[in-house]
Amino acid sequence: MVFPLSDHLREGTKEAHRQAERTPFIRQFFAGRLSLDVYSEFLVQLFHIYTALEEHQEHHRKHSVFGRIYYPSLYRRNALIQDLNYFYEGNHWEDILPHKATVNYVKRIASLSNEWVEGLIAHHYTRYLGDLSGGQVLRRIVKKTFNLSSNEGLAFYDFPQITDHSQFKDAYRAQLDSMPLDEITSQKIVDEANHAFALNRKVFDSMMTSTAED
Ligand code: HEM
Repeated sequence: MVFPLSDHLREGTKEAHRQAERTPFIRQFFAGRLSLDVYSEFLVQLFHIYTALEEHQEHHRKHSVFGRIYYPSLYRRNALIQDLNYFYEGNHWEDILPHKATVNYVKRIASLSNEWVEGLIAHHYTRYLGDLSGGQVLRRIVKKTFNLSSNEGLAFYDFPQITDHSQFKDAYRAQLDSMPLDEITSQKIVDEANHAFALNRKVFDSMMTSTAED
């Protein structure tokens, strides 16, 4: 029997999700022990990742399969620019080089965009569904850790056009399940989602050494 893609992705990445939760970076994040410098530098990595993800989404927005999860309301690039401008206080964060792990992540997105567009579904799912889920807990942690008194610096966690996250996630999963994919392709997408989790883990690990070469 063939599982709907949304179940297949959730079940097939459970272990990768657990591993991501256990990385030292995420643990420190949850414990409120990240410095503002490290957190800001993490946002720079996310800026490069979402820039790639969103550029390639725009390019393939009419794709017969990937186009079904074309939701500009999820876009994070502009929100990241707002947060980066706030935390770097006018300094040139644009000049900070991405970590090697981030460059590799971006390269993977670009190569799928050229060679196998359906593979981008996995990257879309791994980042945006995660942002809509655990992301809300992270928002509270960031607010507390850095003593933020307003919404400034928290744009990354806010989806102003999505009022009901759980309803949105249901609609998103329905789109995934409507995709005309055979079992082999679905499995390849789940494999790619595990790869996406691994690429995220490598970026988290690079934050712990925090030099542009990592
Ligand atoms: C300690 C850190 C994390 C916590 C506490 C956390 C928490 C959660 C929770 C509670 C859900 C379920 C929400 C629901 O059922 O509606 C969820 C789903 C998800 N998370 Fe995380 N998460 C964490 C880290 C991550 C990371 C690092 C990623 C990826 C980079 C990620 C990606 C996802 C995805 C893709 C889903 C959707 C699963 C699905 O329903 O198919 N999470 N997370």
